[in-house]
Amino acid sequence: MLYCRVVYLSGNLTTEELAMPLFPLRKLPATPISGVADELLATLEDAIADENTDRNRICRTLLCQILYPEYAENWDTAVEDAKLPAATRLALASLDPRNVTLEPEYYAECDDSRFQLVKPLLWLWYSFDRTPLGGQNVDLGVRLRRLLAPKIFKRCGRNFKAFQHVEFSFGYNMEVGDDVVVHRHVLLDDRGGLVLGDKVSISDYANIYSHTHSIVDQKDVTDAVTRLDDGVRITYHATVLAGVHVGEEGMVGAVAVATKDVRPYHVNVGIPAKSVRVKPNAPTGPVNLTAIKPR
Ligand SMILES: CC(C)(COP(=O)(O)OP(=O)(O)OC[C@H]1O[C@@H](n2cnc3c(N)ncnc32)[C@H](O)[C@@H]1OP(=O)(O)O)[C@@H](O)C(=O)NCCC(=O)NCCS
Repeated sequence: MLYCRVVYLSGNLTTEELAMPLFPLRKLPATPISGVADELLATLEDAIADENTDRNRICRTLLCQILYPEYAENWDTAVEDAKLPAATRLALASLDPRNVTLEPEYYAECDDSRFQLVKPLLWLWYSFDRTPLGGQNVDLGVRLRRLLAPKIFKRCGRNFKAFQHVEFSFGYNMEVGDDVVVHRHVLLDDRGGLVLGDKVSISDYANIYSHTHSIVDQKDVTDAVTRLDDGVRITYHATVLAGVHVGEEGMVGAVAVATKDVRPYHVNVGIPAKSVRVKPNAPTGPVNLTAIKPR
């Protein structure tokens, strides 16, 4: 087993070295269907590389091949075939993003010229996650989302890794650095803009917002850029509110609600989230605990 040595900082600043087990992710052998998965991804990559190809059609064709292969060759006639039950025709029609609406399209500030370009890829991403082929299928899912993300986001760095059921608002207001990991069921509301630095990690069921509503009038919406700097970790079920800036290597604890900025290397917990400690690897001199008094 591999071990790493960590320094544990207790409340009164005594230090104690502990040996902790380190569990890096394992490498798994290729599955028997890996070659077919490569083929699917290569075809999709080629299709979306060409800016002139109709992305609605790419999305519809792929989803139809996965979900209703018997109609993949004759989708155009099947959606109008009155002999088919209305539910079947609707289900087929809904594979084409032009036949569905997504919530962000109703937002007043939605830039249609940008959203309509990314909508087919978002619809493919969300729908794929709800098929037996997608969802929990880690290898294929991560690779497919890594392929789509740079075509959706304003900027997407290397090795972007997203697990299943991640949702965005516009998608086009996302700026993402290198080696960012987003776990399952995360909401990335980029309505006012989300800027994620390198090596940011967002755990299961976290919510990162960039818009808020007036407490008086629900329709009074304020957008504000939310920033998570390099190395930030937002842990399970935590929420970061619009306009909050989490400094480098900052951490928001499980179920916390970050309503205000989090200082670099600080660990903020609770509702509203307050600093309970500074990470022992913080670069600046002695840790001043009075400045990070636990609540
Ligand atoms: C934030 C966190 C990392 C703090 O861990 P830690 O540095 O070991 O801190 P401690 O457990 O010593 O807690 C310090 C104090 O904060 C409190 N605290 C810790 N986490 C808390 C949380 N999420 N919410 C509220 N209070 C919390 C502790 O009860 C303790 O309070 P006390 O001093 O009154 O006893 C941890 O609690 C946490 O939330 N982990 C989430 C892990 C995670 O999601 N990982 C990602 C996996 S994908």
